[in-house]
Amino acid sequence: MAVQASIKGRGGDHSAFQNDHREAFQADVLAGLSGKQKTLPCKYLYDEAGSKLFEAICELEDYYLTRTEADIFHSNLDSMAALLGPSAVLVEPGAGNCEKAEPLLTAMDTPHAFYPLDISPEILLNAQQRIQARLPDLTVTPVVGDFTCAQPWGEIPPSSHRKVIFFPGSTIGNFSPDKASTLLAQFRSYLSTGDGLLIGVDLVKDSVVLERAYADSDHVTERFNKNLLSRINSELDGNFDTEAFAHRAFYHPHRQRVEMHLVSLCDQKVQVAGQTFDFEEGETIHTENSHKYTRAGLEALLRESGFNPTQFWTDNKQHYAIYYAETL
Ligand SMILES: C[S@@+](CC[C@H](N)C(=O)[O-])C[C@H]1O[C@@H](n2cnc3c(N)ncnc32)[C@H](O)[C@@H]1O
Repeated sequence: MAVQASIKGRGGDHSAFQNDHREAFQADVLAGLSGKQKTLPCKYLYDEAGSKLFEAICELEDYYLTRTEADIFHSNLDSMAALLGPSAVLVEPGAGNCEKAEPLLTAMDTPHAFYPLDISPEILLNAQQRIQARLPDLTVTPVVGDFTCAQPWGEIPPSSHRKVIFFPGSTIGNFSPDKASTLLAQFRSYLSTGDGLLIGVDLVKDSVVLERAYADSDHVTERFNKNLLSRINSELDGNFDTEAFAHRAFYHPHRQRVEMHLVSLCDQKVQVAGQTFDFEEGETIHTENSHKYTRAGLEALLRESGFNPTQFWTDNKQHYAIYYAETL
């Protein structure tokens, strides 16, 4: 089958997608900067430059998550593929460069179709072409959109084949436990009885290891975090001085999460889309949470969201876990 460089969903009509996306981006940024604790939604970290920086983060020695998850996949691909069964439809929300789906699809028994979903269209097209070239008989249909909304799910045609949602990278950790439960229940509502979920989750561990992963010695995470300010400058007519903010990441043991912030280094005023925001020295913009789970906590989350965890895999340090769960 020829490589089809096309994208389903709003991404198919690039200008409509960009207009909707820009309006939502502006509304979310203005609302986030107007709160007492200033915040910016972490999904906006992933424009084209941010997605490339995230790929660089995944290569870092300090960022154990990707390496550990890849090792678990590598050691257990055959048993995972067997659980997914023949002719399954694989759907990956937040697929990014699809580097984890590719070996899984290769190990699976004649997968029927693959739908990578992401908010960032550029990274999806590259991934589609790479996977389609490697697996020419597989239908690969990228869908652009926000996976927390109904829109991208509605772009996937109904199928009588078994469906499996693939959700690696501990992306679930970017949601508070309440919102994670809502998101998994939304995934569940897309699935039918007997369908499955293969999910990768970062586990609670020593805070030194956790903090090093999000404040790496090569300062790539700092560039990833500050890229959000550059993105606001270029897309929303902002005038953030990225040198006037510092990157900070710390583990909050009570909330079981690493928080990422940008700290204002002085009293300053910043303009975005015609509005002015005051910053005091030391005030922060909270840009990302990465929640960590215990096995018991994650299993409870899966159950309350309509899934029955039937199998899990971990590494020898128990830093990371991959679960397979069936719909209840
Ligand atoms: C942490 S990365 C994980 C990428 C890949 N799944 C992996 O495991 O390496 C998160 C990805 O999810 C995408 N993403 C984050 N929030 C999203 C949302 N609400 N809707 C769609 N994509 C989203 C980002 O663009 C990025 O590619």
